Amino acid sequence: MEKPKNLILVIFGASGDLTSRKLITALFSVRSQNLMPDRYAILGIGRSKISDEEFRVKMNAAIVSFSEEKKTAPDKISAFTEDLHYLSMDTTIPADFLKLKELLKEFDTKYDIGGNYIFYLATPPSLYEDIAFNLGASGLSGQTEGFRRIIIEKPFGYDLKSAKKLNMTLHNLASEEQIFRIDHYLGKETVQNLLVTRFANGMFEPLWNRNYIDRIEITSAENLGVEQRGGYYDSSGALRDMVQNHLLQMVGLTAMEPPSSLDADAIRNEVLKVFQSLQPIREEDVPQQVIRGQYTASLIRGECVTGYRYEKGVDVHSRTETYVAIKFYINNWRWGGVPFYIRTGKRLPTRVTEIVIHFKTTPHHLFQRQSGKLSANQLIIRIQPDEGILLKFDMKEPGAGFNVKNVNMDFHYSDLAYLRVPSAYERLLYDVMLGDSTLYSRDDEVETAWKFLEPIQKAWANNPAIKVFGYPAGTWGPEFANDLIEGEGLTWRYPCKNLADEELYCEL
Ligand code: BG6
Repeated sequence: MEKPKNLILVIFGASGDLTSRKLITALFSVRSQNLMPDRYAILGIGRSKISDEEFRVKMNAAIVSFSEEKKTAPDKISAFTEDLHYLSMDTTIPADFLKLKELLKEFDTKYDIGGNYIFYLATPPSLYEDIAFNLGASGLSGQTEGFRRIIIEKPFGYDLKSAKKLNMTLHNLASEEQIFRIDHYLGKETVQNLLVTRFANGMFEPLWNRNYIDRIEITSAENLGVEQRGGYYDSSGALRDMVQNHLLQMVGLTAMEPPSSLDADAIRNEVLKVFQSLQPIREEDVPQQVIRGQYTASLIRGECVTGYRYEKGVDVHSRTETYVAIKFYINNWRWGGVPFYIRTGKRLPTRVTEIVIHFKTTPHHLFQRQSGKLSANQLIIRIQPDEGILLKFDMKEPGAGFNVKNVNMDFHYSDLAYLRVPSAYERLLYDVMLGDSTLYSRDDEVETAWKFLEPIQKAWANNPAIKVFGYPAGTWGPEFANDLIEGEGLTWRYPCKNLADEELYCEL
């Protein structure tokens, strides 16, 4: 594997949860695989006034608590944290960026960096514009020597207008090649495997279209509530938090045409075309095509669970959705007329993300089925947990007659026990160090995704009569979401934690 050039990684928002839970642990894993540059420095930036040493101790503890590699010898962790540094500054004050510039110059000489800097914006989104502006004004984003790259955490904007504005601010200081917009779902192994499943196997492609596929369903369910993020979440909601980015990216990779190469732009061009072909949902159709819900208090396995409106940081009259389900179409030759159903929610019965391809039934039904129902083949691509692929198809039950039974053929990533599945951030951070933006969202993709959601945002804002359905925490969301599914007796698939053995046990 290629080693990145020497560099300094600057993390704005270093005292936040993202840094300790995801970024530092991911960087530690990259280092454990010997994939960090030969010489590098990591500089955390935050408001709290702590010393380098205090920062190192904090990050050391974070690795011990959150890293998969917990059993690593303590001296290996300390060897990594020794390269961590900390600077306390106010990112809204331009003069503080001159302080930063000086420090980077010092590190540059000390570690022989050659001017290669990566700036990771892991702060609250309200600070992105200021940081971007100040990086530009202080001359830190210009690539006169070495490379300068900027990573932006999601959410990228709040709606189409704010995303455009943020893109403009960023483009004023850096070229698109320097900007890396994170969507951590793209860093997940199983999401990337979608490309391999579709385009490395000859057997799927001929069936992957409106002639053989009846509908496509994508679910990203979480069993947790908003946890400590009530303040952020209440101004965001499921549509902005999950649909605009993670779910639509999964739609893009499921529906895209084969790219001409694995080049970053070749892949992103195809995803963009899918986004551009999304049939706009008219504001007046929002109540029929989009169902939103909010979890209410309930008892889960004997434990009282707080309703959303009573979570810390949430307005007691909040109408923010913690669940959303959408039905839509893609207007192109491959997908014309095939409904896509996507849903996501917090406090659902389990944590699971999967893509279900429902194939059409046979044109003529010869055999008697035990259930009396006509079964159709399903291909289930499990993103998490129990990552894998499941094909459901019909077989003859042994014995007299022609009784048909629906059976499973499954592959689990865990069968490849000798291979470790890297975390999403690990892959994304390694890629940005190499300058590979394939798994990052491009400006036009982000804006087109917002454009698709704009009528939904407008309808909800302008029409208070559109209901926010309550659903008890621990259930699958509002029952009305089933009405979205076209076809008699059809419902969503209600997945279990385990991919294939749902009849044996279903751990919820
Ligand atoms: C984040 C959202 O982007 O994704 C969170 O802000 C959500 O609200 C999380 O919980 C889900 O990610 P994962 O990897 O746990 O499915």
